Amino acid sequence: MTSPRVRLRPDVAAIVPYRQGRTAAADAFKLSSNENPNPPLPAVLAVLADVAPNRYPDGAASALRDRLGTRWRVSPEQVHVAAGSVALIGNLIDATCGPGDEVLYAWRSFEGYPLLVATAGVESVRVPLTADGRHDLDAMAAAVSPRTRLILLCTPNNPTGPTIRADEFATFMSRVPPTVLVVLDEAYAEFVTEPSAVRGEDVIAAHPNLVVLRTFSKAYGLAGLRVGYMIGAEYVCDGARAVSMPLAVTDLAQRAAIVSLDHEDELLERVAHIVQRRERVRAALLEQGWEVPDAQGNFVWLPTGAGTAEAADILERGGIIARALGEGVRVSIGEEEAVDKLLRSTAEVVDALRGTHGTRG
Ligand SMILES: Cc1ncc(COP(=O)(O)O)c(C=O)c1O
Repeated sequence: MTSPRVRLRPDVAAIVPYRQGRTAAADAFKLSSNENPNPPLPAVLAVLADVAPNRYPDGAASALRDRLGTRWRVSPEQVHVAAGSVALIGNLIDATCGPGDEVLYAWRSFEGYPLLVATAGVESVRVPLTADGRHDLDAMAAAVSPRTRLILLCTPNNPTGPTIRADEFATFMSRVPPTVLVVLDEAYAEFVTEPSAVRGEDVIAAHPNLVVLRTFSKAYGLAGLRVGYMIGAEYVCDGARAVSMPLAVTDLAQRAAIVSLDHEDELLERVAHIVQRRERVRAALLEQGWEVPDAQGNFVWLPTGAGTAEAADILERGGIIARALGEGVRVSIGEEEAVDKLLRSTAEVVDALRGTHGTRG
């Protein structure tokens, strides 16, 4: 006889858990999670050896918030630190939304959005991207309803790559009611080279209903330590703090983040190399016939359509673990040694899909 089961929330039972980028075999490259391929700086490694794990961390992340406040010219109260920007997004949804409320975002975008919205028991409203993988901000403004509490803007957009332009952002903000919180998720800000792109630091002061999210996971190479932050109005940060998991940001993560800021020039030099590699990879892919949208993060998007599963298989056989996402494949810009392997495999995908699906990819 089966024993009685406890009752789960029916909407929770229906959630498909977050799917992490697959790990790679020893001779393959893991280009499935938009990670930084570089090992930590020696100064960061030194901090790791110098932490007392028997003590709880500073739950307020005071030193890191002071540091970030100075950098963003805001008070430390206008900075909230959490265990990665996924945690920040969850905090903001919990702080603003209740049953029946809506969170609006573009789709396709970061895989975490629908999951975090569903976890909070609120509704997702998804507005399709334009054909070139950009946010359709006109359509998004038109989709704001009396139930909209939060809008997530992802720039550059994961997984497609383009940024939101500063001028279109300004027009969008003028159409959003001031009681709706707008979140500018800039997880890949440091990789952006497009001059017309909106930048959180340029717009945060002008919009009381805006928060900007940044993470140490990507450019700073601390994905495994879990630390990110948001800048916004003090009462909004207080709301996010009120619902955040206590003591979730470890001392290790806080100190590594501060040391990374101390050595930012060195880290940004590494970012510049990744950006050069991205430009080289995208140019080669365009040459092969791919219609790769503007790539402003540390990844490129291959619009493989109906051939997505086949494309991911071919890449994997070629030693590249990429991320198949519905209508396309996202490939992170990783190690230099992965580039030739990647381009050999994408050329193979072009040949294979030309025969079966008639796509350019
Ligand atoms: C757009 C975007 N936002 C947020 C995150 C989450 O980053 P983390 O929680 O590591 O800061 C990611 C990670 O891939 C992302 O692509």
